Amino acid sequence: MPGLIGPKDYSQEPSRHPSLKINAKEPFNAEPPRAALISSYVTPVDYFYKRNHGPIPIVDNVERYSLAVGGLLKKPIQLSMAEIRKLPKYNVTATLQCAGNRRTAMSKSRTVRGVGWDAAAIGNAIWGGAKLSDVLELVGISKHSSVTLSGGKHVEFISIDRCKEENGGPYKASIPLQQATNPDADVLLAYEMNGKILNRDHGYPLRVVVPGVIGARSVKWLDSIKISEEECQGFFMQKDYKTFPPSVNWDNINWSTRRPQMDFPVQCAICSLEDEDVVKQGKIKVSGYAVSGGGRGIERVDISVDGGKTWMEAQRFQKGDGPYSSDDLNGDKWAWVLFEAVVDIPEKAEIIAKAVDSAANVQPENVETIWNLRGILNTSWHRVQVRKDSCVANSSL
Ligand code: MTE
Repeated sequence: MPGLIGPKDYSQEPSRHPSLKINAKEPFNAEPPRAALISSYVTPVDYFYKRNHGPIPIVDNVERYSLAVGGLLKKPIQLSMAEIRKLPKYNVTATLQCAGNRRTAMSKSRTVRGVGWDAAAIGNAIWGGAKLSDVLELVGISKHSSVTLSGGKHVEFISIDRCKEENGGPYKASIPLQQATNPDADVLLAYEMNGKILNRDHGYPLRVVVPGVIGARSVKWLDSIKISEEECQGFFMQKDYKTFPPSVNWDNINWSTRRPQMDFPVQCAICSLEDEDVVKQGKIKVSGYAVSGGGRGIERVDISVDGGKTWMEAQRFQKGDGPYSSDDLNGDKWAWVLFEAVVDIPEKAEIIAKAVDSAANVQPENVETIWNLRGILNTSWHRVQVRKDSCVANSSL
């Protein structure tokens, strides 16, 4: 197998942008400064968060790389990169978000286990590649199937990298066959990110992108695809990335009582400000991102400067020049919106943002109600505490 690097060998990691905030060095887990996320709708690859569970594999001879498609199939196949590239190519703009985004803030309420992340374990990219539904057609599985003739109901993705949680085995995850064979679900086998060949950190030469679903299911460095009756039994499906109620702790946890987390809920974060920022007198611009899973768009982003007593609506933006409206037919349904509002702040202020998605789901007010021991899916109202410097007038507006 190309690029096999042991689960502890970090001697051949790629170089990364120096502005990334490193949350864990080995495996490498890093996020950009919040402000980098709002400088463009499409996140530059350098600033895109990196979330790994083992060393980055090396596939140095792409000619020798092939993807195995097997499992419950009469005729398993091997596909070279050239064959994958011959399939119709799609560019899908999709936001990838780690389930652990904003974990550090959840940890402040009560300790959780996991890599600490601020609010930038998220990024929006244009992923280029073949649709998984087209690849599955090559092995005789037709579009919109939920079960194959041989009883296959799940599509498992197995990687090249090696991680300690799998006892030195590969990272893996699965999605239901129904989603995999639905062309409108836009599940990609991506070989490009923002118009360029994927880099090593993000899954070179081939990765899965499952839009609208927590990042953990978008398996990088894809080695094989397996059609199976059961969902993937790997660690990251069965012993991690599940959401438990606040009453569950490490003494009474029973992993089998919960399903693997798939779609992510509605989320937003302010990125133009950090806690303790001193802002100049006058009006201030508040901007950030908002996104929801499952292809649900963002209907509204509300901003409050009085602890949630009153709210004003922010403007939303996607690609195009003008503000985004929910009935924009050219909108990217898997992608975030960036938002912007101009507010007048009191002397000492907590600025709050909350988003509402197209199904009218709204972010919960407090982190305590959604606290879970793994610290995933902190989607509580995003709050930033700033202080007003009354001596200097604000010239940035
Ligand atoms: N795929 C492999 N093979 N190994 C990994 O460690 N991490 C997953 C997912 N795919 C992971 C993986 C997680 S938890 C996330 S959030 C995304 O990749 C992160 O993708 P990125 O590093 O390209 O941002």
